[in-house]
Amino acid sequence: MTAAMDISVTRVERSKLQDLDMENLPFGKYFTDHMLEADFENGEWKNIEIKPYQPLLLSPSVAALHYGQAIFEGIKAYKDREGHPFIFRPQDNHKRFNISAERMQMPAVPEELFVEGMRRLISLDQAWIPMKNDFSLYIRPFMFSSDELIGVRPSDTYKFMIILSPSGPYYAAPMRIYVEEKYVRAVPGGVGYAKAAGNYGAAMYATAEAKKKGYDQVLWMDAFEHKYVQECGTMNVFFIIGNTAITPGLEQGTILGGVTRNSVITLLNEMGVTVEERDLSIDEIVAAYKAGEHMEVFGTGTAATISPIKELGYKDMSMTFDLDKWKIAPAIKKTITDIREGRQADTHGWMYKI
Ligand code: COI
Repeated sequence: MTAAMDISVTRVERSKLQDLDMENLPFGKYFTDHMLEADFENGEWKNIEIKPYQPLLLSPSVAALHYGQAIFEGIKAYKDREGHPFIFRPQDNHKRFNISAERMQMPAVPEELFVEGMRRLISLDQAWIPMKNDFSLYIRPFMFSSDELIGVRPSDTYKFMIILSPSGPYYAAPMRIYVEEKYVRAVPGGVGYAKAAGNYGAAMYATAEAKKKGYDQVLWMDAFEHKYVQECGTMNVFFIIGNTAITPGLEQGTILGGVTRNSVITLLNEMGVTVEERDLSIDEIVAAYKAGEHMEVFGTGTAATISPIKELGYKDMSMTFDLDKWKIAPAIKKTITDIREGRQADTHGWMYKI
C-alpha cells in the first residue's frame, strides 16, 4: 500500500446524529453515519471506501458464516477538553489485529489501511464522539473471509471493515464474577491470544450459566487443572494483594494481550506498585482473602476500561471486596481516564491525534 492510499468517500445526505440522545447511550447499540469497507482480492487490498453505514449484501455461502474465519478489534476515540479528537493506541490494536489474522490464516491488514482509514472515518464522524465522563466513540475494526464456498479452506477473498459506535460504559456497576471450573476458554496451542470472533461465541454458554446463578461474568481458569486464573469474559484481570499487582502472563498464549492491560501495567509501575505477570492460583487468592490481606480485583479492557469486581464466587464460597477501601484501582482508573480525556499529560504517546 502506498503513502497516498486511495479512499473513495461518499457522504450521507442527512446525518442521523440529531436523532440520538448523546446523554443516554448504551454500549454498542448506535452507529455513526459512515463506515469503512475494503476488499482483499488477488493478494491485495482494494475498493477502499468510506460510505454511509448500511447493511451488507452477502451470499448465504459466504465462508465466515460457516467456519468462523473472523477477527475483530475494540478501540476508543475521545475528545480532550478543547474538543480535539484522539484515538487511544490504535497502532497497538493494529499489531494485535495482524497477530489474530496470522493465527486465523487471514491476510495482514496494512497499518495505513487500519490506522489512516480509521483516522479518516472518524474525522468525518467526529461530531459523534461523546464528551461525557466514561463515554467514548467505540471503534470496531473487523475482518471476515468472504469466499462463496462451503469447502473447508482459507478464503481467497476477505472483507475488512470499520464501524463506529458512540457508547456509554460497558459495565456500569461493580461486578459479581463466577470462578468457572467446568468450561474452558483456551488451551496452549489454541486461539486464546487471538481476538477471534469464535472465542466470544464459545464463551456464551458458560456465561449464561453463570448469569443464571446471579453472576455478571465468569473468571476463566486454565484448561487442565482449573486452578490458575486466565481472564474474565470480556477483559483481562488484575489482583492487587497487599501492595503487589498480579496478572496472568501472556507466554502460554491462552489470554488476550490487552492494550488496556499493558497501559495499566505501565501506570502501576509508575505509581510504584510492584507488578507480577505470572501464574496466579485460586488457592493463593483464597488464602490471601482468608488472611484478611488488602485485595483489589478488577478487569481491564477497551470496552470495560477498569471494571471493579466486588465479588468472586468460588465453589460454595463468596469472596466479597470492600470497594470503599480501595486505593490503587481507583487511582489507575482516574489516571487512565484523565489521559484519555486530556486532563493529564500523555507522556507515553498513547493518544493518536485525528
Ligand atoms: C473490547 O474490550 O473492545 C472488546 O472487544 C470486548 C467485548 C466488547 C467483545
